[in-house]
Amino acid sequence: MKRLFDRKDMLILSYGRLENEQNLVFQVNVRRISIYILEEGTILDEFIKNKNVIQYLDHFIIFLPEKKEFQNLFWKEFYSIFGKDYEKIINTSNNIFCMNEMIHYMKENANIGNQSMLLDYGCGSGLSLYTDYIGRLVGYEPVYTMRQQALKRGMHVLGSHAFNMLPDDYFDAAFACYVFHLSIQEKSIYQLSQKMKKEAVLVANFYKDIDVVRINRIFDKLNYRVMKITDIQERFGSIYEYVKR
Ligand SMILES: C[S@@+](CC[C@H](N)C(=O)[O-])C[C@H]1O[C@@H](n2cnc3c(N)ncnc32)[C@H](O)[C@@H]1O
Repeated sequence: MKRLFDRKDMLILSYGRLENEQNLVFQVNVRRISIYILEEGTILDEFIKNKNVIQYLDHFIIFLPEKKEFQNLFWKEFYSIFGKDYEKIINTSNNIFCMNEMIHYMKENANIGNQSMLLDYGCGSGLSLYTDYIGRLVGYEPVYTMRQQALKRGMHVLGSHAFNMLPDDYFDAAFACYVFHLSIQEKSIYQLSQKMKKEAVLVANFYKDIDVVRINRIFDKLNYRVMKITDIQERFGSIYEYVKR
């Protein structure tokens, strides 16, 4: 895929073939995902007319599956395929800045210190190791390709099975940096909630504000206190705080 990124091509990704779309040259299937290159000069707006179509990370137009339960599977496939290039296609300093903002917020407002047990939910390649936080930190990352990068970097990182085996009420606080737009299933939020102590705080940002209403409803249902902290659309989207009651 390196050549594609070098040429600044726009890739269109979907489960299944996009037979009715014109302007697509080249098609290849990787795992279960169909990948197309968009012909140069095509107007992107034509492709982004549907609510399940997202322009993503400057290189991708994602056609999400209609059904919510398949959407997170799609994202996990996406990170399995493109994960090894993750740090080439994002601005890493932006993500580290975002994590630092969340951690500073927790230190100032939620009594989080170096003895606290902190969770990096959806830790990706482990960039949180470059934040100012020097206390106890555990990463959760369901995708092998991403988890391996975090492990190599020296992070204590768990996959889904190991995460679910942790005792309940384990974490004092958690942050999710650029994760909650990935159609996280209600069941996964319940599992995350079980691992949080009472009064624990979770801070998360919403890329392009995708899925913010649905996720907030889930936390409401779990009786969390939900509060918007800030809204920096040009950088991270909105950032929310969730406190377990
Ligand atoms: C945009 S990356 C962000 C990684 C890291 N937080 C950062 O800011 O660099 C999103 C990460 O969320 C992970 N992810 C996907 N589905 C997830 C889920 N259901 N629960 C937790 N993480 C998930 C992806 O595998 C990917 O590593």
